[in-house]
Amino acid sequence: MVNRRQIKFIFILSIGLLSLSILFQNCAKSNITNSGAAVSQQTILESKSIDILNQKCSSCHSESTGAANSAPGADPITNISDVNYLLRTRLIIPGEPDLSPIYQSVRNGDMPVNESLDTQEIQTIKDWISGIKL
Ligand code: HEC
Repeated sequence: MVNRRQIKFIFILSIGLLSLSILFQNCAKSNITNSGAAVSQQTILESKSIDILNQKCSSCHSESTGAANSAPGADPITNISDVNYLLRTRLIIPGEPDLSPIYQSVRNGDMPVNESLDTQEIQTIKDWISGIKL
Protein backbone atom coordinates (compact mmCIF):
# COMPACT_ATOMS: atom_id res chain seq x y z
CA MET A 1 0.00 0.00 0.00
CA VAL A 2 1.20 3.53 -0.76
CA ASN A 3 1.00 5.66 2.38
CA ARG A 4 0.88 9.44 2.82
CA ARG A 5 4.63 9.69 3.46
CA GLN A 6 5.39 7.95 0.16
CA ILE A 7 2.95 10.17 -1.74
CA LYS A 8 4.58 13.25 -0.21
CA PHE A 9 8.03 11.90 -1.17
CA ILE A 10 7.00 11.24 -4.79
CA PHE A 11 5.38 14.69 -4.96
CA ILE A 12 8.53 16.47 -3.75
CA LEU A 13 10.70 14.33 -6.05
CA SER A 14 8.64 15.29 -9.11
CA ILE A 15 8.73 18.99 -8.25
CA GLY A 16 12.51 18.67 -7.87
CA LEU A 17 12.95 16.94 -11.24
CA LEU A 18 10.68 19.46 -12.94
CA SER A 19 12.64 22.44 -11.63
CA LEU A 20 15.93 20.78 -12.57
CA SER A 21 14.76 20.30 -16.14
CA ILE A 22 13.61 23.94 -16.36
CA LEU A 23 17.00 25.03 -14.99
CA PHE A 24 18.90 23.03 -17.63
CA GLN A 25 16.66 24.33 -20.39
CA ASN A 26 17.47 27.90 -19.40
CA CYS A 27 21.21 27.16 -19.26
CA ALA A 28 21.13 25.69 -22.75
CA LYS A 29 19.22 28.71 -24.04
CA SER A 30 21.56 31.27 -22.49
CA ASN A 31 24.61 29.49 -23.97
CA ILE A 32 23.14 29.82 -27.41
CA THR A 33 22.51 33.55 -27.00
CA ASN A 34 26.01 34.11 -25.60
CA SER A 35 27.81 32.45 -28.49
CA GLY A 36 25.49 34.25 -30.89
CA ALA A 37 26.56 37.56 -29.38
CA ALA A 38 30.26 36.60 -29.62
CA VAL A 39 29.91 35.77 -33.30
CA SER A 40 28.23 39.06 -34.17
CA GLN A 41 30.83 41.07 -32.18
CA GLN A 42 33.56 39.44 -34.30
CA THR A 43 31.55 40.13 -37.46
CA ILE A 44 31.35 43.82 -36.53
CA LEU A 45 35.12 43.97 -35.87
CA GLU A 46 35.77 42.31 -39.22
CA SER A 47 33.61 44.66 -41.24
CA LYS A 48 35.11 47.72 -39.47
CA SER A 49 38.62 46.43 -40.16
CA ILE A 50 37.90 45.71 -43.82
CA ASP A 51 36.49 49.24 -44.14
CA ILE A 52 39.71 50.66 -42.70
CA LEU A 53 41.88 48.56 -45.02
CA ASN A 54 39.72 49.58 -47.98
CA GLN A 55 39.85 53.28 -47.20
CA LYS A 56 43.42 53.62 -45.95
CA CYS A 57 45.42 50.87 -47.67
CA SER A 58 43.86 49.55 -50.85
CA SER A 59 44.95 52.48 -53.03
CA CYS A 60 48.56 51.22 -52.74
CA HIS A 61 47.98 47.50 -52.21
CA SER A 62 45.63 46.37 -54.98
CA GLU A 63 46.06 44.20 -58.06
CA SER A 64 47.13 47.21 -60.13
CA THR A 65 49.19 49.13 -57.53
CA GLY A 66 50.65 46.35 -55.34
CA ALA A 67 53.78 45.68 -57.35
CA ALA A 68 54.80 49.34 -57.29
CA ASN A 69 54.34 49.44 -53.49
CA SER A 70 56.39 46.55 -52.24
CA ALA A 71 59.84 46.39 -50.75
CA PRO A 72 62.50 45.10 -53.19
CA GLY A 73 62.29 41.30 -53.34
CA ALA A 74 59.10 41.14 -51.24
CA ASP A 75 55.84 39.64 -52.56
CA PRO A 76 53.54 42.51 -53.56
CA ILE A 77 50.29 42.84 -51.60
CA THR A 78 47.59 42.79 -54.28
CA ASN A 79 44.32 42.44 -52.35
CA ILE A 80 44.61 44.03 -48.91
CA SER A 81 40.89 44.03 -48.10
CA ASP A 82 40.22 40.34 -48.87
CA VAL A 83 40.29 38.29 -45.66
CA ASN A 84 41.00 34.95 -47.39
CA TYR A 85 43.88 36.50 -49.33
CA LEU A 86 45.34 37.96 -46.11
CA LEU A 87 45.11 34.56 -44.36
CA ARG A 88 46.52 32.63 -47.33
CA THR A 89 49.52 34.95 -47.68
CA ARG A 90 50.02 34.97 -43.88
CA LEU A 91 49.73 38.76 -43.72
CA ILE A 92 47.30 37.85 -40.92
CA ILE A 93 47.99 35.07 -38.43
CA PRO A 94 44.71 34.02 -36.75
CA GLY A 95 44.65 35.00 -33.06
CA GLU A 96 48.15 36.54 -33.25
CA PRO A 97 48.07 40.25 -34.08
CA ASP A 98 51.67 40.81 -32.99
CA LEU A 99 52.84 38.18 -35.49
CA SER A 100 50.65 39.56 -38.30
CA PRO A 101 52.44 41.93 -40.75
CA ILE A 102 49.19 43.87 -41.30
CA TYR A 103 48.91 44.70 -37.60
CA GLN A 104 52.68 45.17 -37.12
CA SER A 105 52.77 47.75 -39.91
CA VAL A 106 49.99 49.90 -38.39
CA ARG A 107 51.11 49.37 -34.76
CA ASN A 108 54.59 50.59 -35.64
CA GLY A 109 53.20 53.56 -37.57
CA ASP A 110 54.91 52.37 -40.81
CA MET A 111 51.59 52.14 -42.67
CA PRO A 112 49.86 53.92 -44.26
CA VAL A 113 52.95 55.64 -45.69
CA ASN A 114 53.29 59.25 -44.48
CA GLU A 115 50.37 59.06 -42.03
CA SER A 116 49.11 56.70 -39.38
CA LEU A 117 45.82 55.22 -38.24
CA ASP A 118 44.24 56.59 -35.07
CA THR A 119 44.43 54.62 -31.81
CA GLN A 120 40.91 53.29 -32.17
CA GLU A 121 41.44 52.03 -35.73
CA ILE A 122 44.66 50.27 -34.65
CA GLN A 123 42.81 48.68 -31.69
CA THR A 124 39.96 47.54 -33.96
CA ILE A 125 42.39 45.72 -36.26
CA LYS A 126 44.14 44.18 -33.25
CA ASP A 127 40.89 42.94 -31.68
CA TRP A 128 39.69 41.59 -35.04
CA ILE A 129 42.86 39.55 -35.64
CA SER A 130 42.85 38.36 -31.98
CA GLY A 131 39.33 37.02 -32.46
CA ILE A 132 39.96 35.10 -35.70
CA LYS A 133 39.85 31.36 -35.02
CA LEU A 134 40.47 28.70 -37.61
C1 HEC B 1 50.78 55.57 -50.23
C2 HEC B 1 50.91 54.14 -50.48
C3 HEC B 1 50.66 53.17 -49.36
C4 HEC B 1 49.57 53.09 -48.52
C5 HEC B 1 48.34 54.00 -48.48
C6 HEC B 1 49.78 51.92 -47.70
N1 HEC B 1 50.97 51.32 -48.02
FE1 HEC B 1 51.71 49.60 -47.23
N2 HEC B 1 53.39 49.78 -48.39
C7 HEC B 1 53.65 50.81 -49.26
C8 HEC B 1 55.00 50.67 -49.79
C9 HEC B 1 55.68 51.63 -50.77
C10 HEC B 1 55.52 49.50 -49.20
C11 HEC B 1 56.91 48.87 -49.45
C12 HEC B 1 58.03 49.60 -48.82
C13 HEC B 1 58.04 49.42 -47.37
O1 HEC B 1 57.96 48.28 -46.87
O2 HEC B 1 58.16 50.45 -46.67
C14 HEC B 1 54.48 48.95 -48.35
C15 HEC B 1 54.62 47.79 -47.62
C16 HEC B 1 53.63 47.27 -46.78
C17 HEC B 1 53.76 46.04 -46.05
C18 HEC B 1 54.94 45.09 -46.12
C19 HEC B 1 55.69 44.95 -44.85
C20 HEC B 1 56.10 46.26 -44.24
O3 HEC B 1 55.73 46.51 -43.06
O4 HEC B 1 56.84 47.04 -44.90
C21 HEC B 1 52.60 45.88 -45.32
C22 HEC B 1 52.23 44.73 -44.40
C23 HEC B 1 51.76 47.02 -45.59
N3 HEC B 1 52.41 47.83 -46.49
C24 HEC B 1 50.52 47.23 -45.05
C25 HEC B 1 49.77 48.37 -45.25
C26 HEC B 1 48.54 48.65 -44.54
C27 HEC B 1 47.89 47.75 -43.51
C28 HEC B 1 48.09 49.86 -44.99
C29 HEC B 1 46.89 50.64 -44.54
C30 HEC B 1 46.73 50.84 -43.13
C31 HEC B 1 49.04 50.31 -46.01
N4 HEC B 1 50.05 49.40 -46.12
C32 HEC B 1 48.89 51.49 -46.73
C33 HEC B 1 52.78 51.80 -49.62
C34 HEC B 1 51.55 52.06 -49.03
